[in-house]
Amino acid sequence: MLIPGELAASLRRAQAVTVLTGAGISAESGVPTFRDAQTGLWARYRPEELATPEAFLRDPKMVWEWYLHRRETLGRAEPNAGHFALADIERRVPSFTLVTQNVDGLHAKAGSRNLIELHGNIVRTKCFGAGHPIDRLPDDARVPPHCPLCGSRLRPDVVWFGEMLPEGAMERATEAAIACDVFLCVGTSALVYPAAELPAIAKHGGALVIEVNPDPSPVADFADFTLAAAAGIALPALVNAAWPGNG
Ligand code: OAD
Repeated sequence: MLIPGELAASLRRAQAVTVLTGAGISAESGVPTFRDAQTGLWARYRPEELATPEAFLRDPKMVWEWYLHRRETLGRAEPNAGHFALADIERRVPSFTLVTQNVDGLHAKAGSRNLIELHGNIVRTKCFGAGHPIDRLPDDARVPPHCPLCGSRLRPDVVWFGEMLPEGAMERATEAAIACDVFLCVGTSALVYPAAELPAIAKHGGALVIEVNPDPSPVADFADFTLAAAAGIALPALVNAAWPGNG
């Protein structure tokens, strides 16, 4: 795909790049997006039945088992060309921050290092009572197992509807949005706050804002460039245009 020369030059010159990703970047890895009415997770399961603290208190076994199922599905997913292109950009620019709303762990699997997982990570486990992080599931036949430290039930370390983001995560993401020269907004409908305000924060901070989305979000209204294509196509093209011949 054709990348505007001015955009490629700005990325090549950038000292600091910040990226916000959403479910769209994992679509090409076979992970359904949230608002995809046909195949999305939320079409088959009502989110308030599964992804809230209230749902967990009502039926911890069902919620735990549903997340086990999602872990298995996501565990088989592999990063795609879009994830790899972002890991590649990180190796080329002096300062790089990747803020993701995804819980699938595919950015880390692709080699991204300076990663802020705003909505947690489905592979990790913590306890419901005190948030103790759990490295290995205890030998406990109960479903869900209980925390070896405080006895409360274990749950996935993801952010449920109505919960706070991980401590300090939004602060670090905001700082990275303010400090960058180039901000990429990839595969998010940019509807869920506070993550959705990061592109505008970057724009106010003077960054060049680029949206990558086949079906552009409200971010397109103020973005400097909109690449209306799948992330797996647009991001490798962007890297090739900015660093031709991998130079
Ligand atoms: P959405 O499902 O709202 O949006 C996915 C976006 O990806 C849409 O704008 C699509 O057009 C776009 N898209 C689809 N395929 C794409 C592709 N191949 N390449 C690039 N873009 C593509 O997902 P999110 O914006 O991630 O929060 O949703 C944000 C948050 O809402 C989620 O993290 C979740 C949900 O409530 C929590 O669970 C707390």
